[in-house]
Amino acid sequence: MKGVILAGGTGSRLHPLTRITNKHLLPIYDRPMVTYAIEAIVKSGVDEIMLVTGGTHAGEFFRLLGDGHAHGIDRLSYAYQERESGIADALGLAERFAAGERVLVMLADNIFENSIKAAIDNYGKQEQGARIALSRQENAEHLRHLGVAELDGERVTGIVEKPENPPSEFAVTGLYFYDAAVFEFLPTLSPSARGELEITDVNNWYIEQGAMEYDVLEGFWGDAGESIDAYYAVNDFVRQHGANR
Ligand code: DAU
Repeated sequence: MKGVILAGGTGSRLHPLTRITNKHLLPIYDRPMVTYAIEAIVKSGVDEIMLVTGGTHAGEFFRLLGDGHAHGIDRLSYAYQERESGIADALGLAERFAAGERVLVMLADNIFENSIKAAIDNYGKQEQGARIALSRQENAEHLRHLGVAELDGERVTGIVEKPENPPSEFAVTGLYFYDAAVFEFLPTLSPSARGELEITDVNNWYIEQGAMEYDVLEGFWGDAGESIDAYYAVNDFVRQHGANR
């Protein structure tokens, strides 16, 4: 399995900080945000990674990561997203890198307390399709800023992006697994009302095919790009408890 880390976008919710750097280069406790996603993936045994970024600060990722070896990456590839056209658009840039293999996709503003290895292993046992990782979030206001899963027993029946009325307490985290079919579906997507190609549309397509499974992650999960308060909440958590344990 190959890893794809998505670190593009404008980071507008963290303006003006993100006018002077890329969101994923901002510090979380004692190091740049993107290094947590790298650590999560590498510690789980995936060491071939593509980093997708964009904007005016993209070159700084080279200075930070170089060939990736110091971060445990065997082969690090880079892609440049010309416009901030959405998570699914960014993923499309990894098609040749994936070269028919399955991919683990992680949003570079997501921080996990615990190892993601169990989810990777579970996807390894899955014959085909896609897999998402859910996190229970009791605060309804928080859920309104995320993708939220609709569940029916063991099945996920849909995902609602930024729901006014969250259909469950299970947020969809920025950790996704896809088989090669994703790259056939991506070119058929149309932009959403906010003008982006939405990863939630990709996930709902897999759900319609009956080809989506999920894990519920234990422990803390944070989206450090959600708001300035979320950014500091993630910083506080990581400073006290660490991440990727
Ligand atoms: O963090 C989890 C949430 O991430 C999910 O619950 C939502 O379903 C999912 O849509 C996403 O929501 P956000 O509103 O947080 O997405 P955001 O626009 O902040 O983008 C998240 C990351 O994706 C960002 O840190 C970098 C990458 N990205 C985003 C865009 C828009 C790109 O690489 N390129 C892009 O054009």
